[in-house]
Amino acid sequence: MAQLWKGRFKKELAKETNDFNSSISFDCRMFEEDIKGSIAHATMLGATGIIDKSESDKICAELAVILDDIKSGKLAIDMEAEDIHTFIEGELTARLGQTGKRLHTARSRNDQVALDIRMTLKKEIDEISDKLKELILVLCNKADENKTAIMPGYTHLQRAQPITFGHHLMAYAAMLLRDLDRLDDCKKRMNVLPLGSGALAGTTYPLDRNMVANLLGFDGVSANSLDGVSDRDFCIELASALSLVMVHLSRFSEEIIMWCSWEFKFVELDDAFSTGSSIMPQKKNPDIAELVRGKSGRVFGDLTTLLTVMKGIALAYNKDMQEDKEAIFDAVDTVKMCLNAFTPMIDTMTVLGDNMRAAAAKGFINATDCADYLVGKGLPFRDAYKATGELVALCIDKGLTLETLPLDEYKAVCDLFDDEVYTAINLEKCVADRLVEGGPSVQSVEKQIEIAKKQVS
Ligand code: ARG
Repeated sequence: MAQLWKGRFKKELAKETNDFNSSISFDCRMFEEDIKGSIAHATMLGATGIIDKSESDKICAELAVILDDIKSGKLAIDMEAEDIHTFIEGELTARLGQTGKRLHTARSRNDQVALDIRMTLKKEIDEISDKLKELILVLCNKADENKTAIMPGYTHLQRAQPITFGHHLMAYAAMLLRDLDRLDDCKKRMNVLPLGSGALAGTTYPLDRNMVANLLGFDGVSANSLDGVSDRDFCIELASALSLVMVHLSRFSEEIIMWCSWEFKFVELDDAFSTGSSIMPQKKNPDIAELVRGKSGRVFGDLTTLLTVMKGIALAYNKDMQEDKEAIFDAVDTVKMCLNAFTPMIDTMTVLGDNMRAAAAKGFINATDCADYLVGKGLPFRDAYKATGELVALCIDKGLTLETLPLDEYKAVCDLFDDEVYTAINLEKCVADRLVEGGPSVQSVEKQIEIAKKQVS
């Protein structure tokens, strides 16, 4: 495949150079964006009289045919080409002759590739956002089904205070809602047209950049031609937002893995979303959750790749920047793949509420409520805390819980106790009383669900 830049060279390109230099194996996925970008550019060249309107029309029509041909499989992308831009322009010229050669007027591959990546990633952000919304809705529904399912809330992986499974799930919904926001925000900054920046110094042609921006659905045009072609901060921002998505999915996965263990048995994954062992017949493994947890490392790696590629290159374009695509595409693909498997896994899992309730009954997770009960009777919190601590120690000695400890033992520690303490430490009541905004009570969780649903619809 011929290069676009042949003129000043006397020798053929070494095969090693072509193999090393070529990016077609990973930028071929941008063929549609490349063609649509070229159609918009050619339309503007015709409208402004930079090239003849009739030639612009021919170029646009033939580019549309090329797009159809690639989509239908009639035209195969040549994997020997230097990159997708070279391939499309070469194909156009092969079909239209001299007219095809006019397409690249007032354009460089530097602003062209900056455009193509932006267009591709905008589309990917939309797809990922839709998948995140789907997961958030699944969480809202599961949370609604489990808004009365008492479970122990943990700190330090030690049973801490009573919550519900619904409340716990909505914590993840809150994280994913922020992820959605971050993606949206990132898209806003990505949404400026770099075309018109040329190679680095703009162009002498009287371009109508805003027309191209409108045609391609960009909010505006980049402010500086050097910056327009040479920054990839939008890739880094996206990789960073995606890394946070993966942090959240990975923490969630870790909990799913624990909850599936016999030690917890809080949930059971559907057979369709679990795997077995080749030797141990009894095993049912949470491989999806483990893979999601593992794949988070890839995405963090992609972010590190992008940061490292960009940190030391002088303005403007340098070939180092070709390394942006594999990294950001891998991050995008990994997150999509994870969400594709993770969402139905959550949707189909069985929640074992009785096991959660049984775990909540152990571990003195109502000790704070016991102390609060004494505060209600007039004792300062620090004294109430100490008295309750003594009661917990007593229970541990006797193999009892606060619920089963006789009243006279309570009174021996503090005479403010009476029969009502058993109501005060009832786990259902402890949760029901936590009416505070954001808390685990049914009303509060319902409110969280309502707000979340509104945000994703
Ligand atoms: N394949 C190149 C890339 O991905 C396209 C831009 C080429 N520009 C250049 N000046 N060699 O970055």
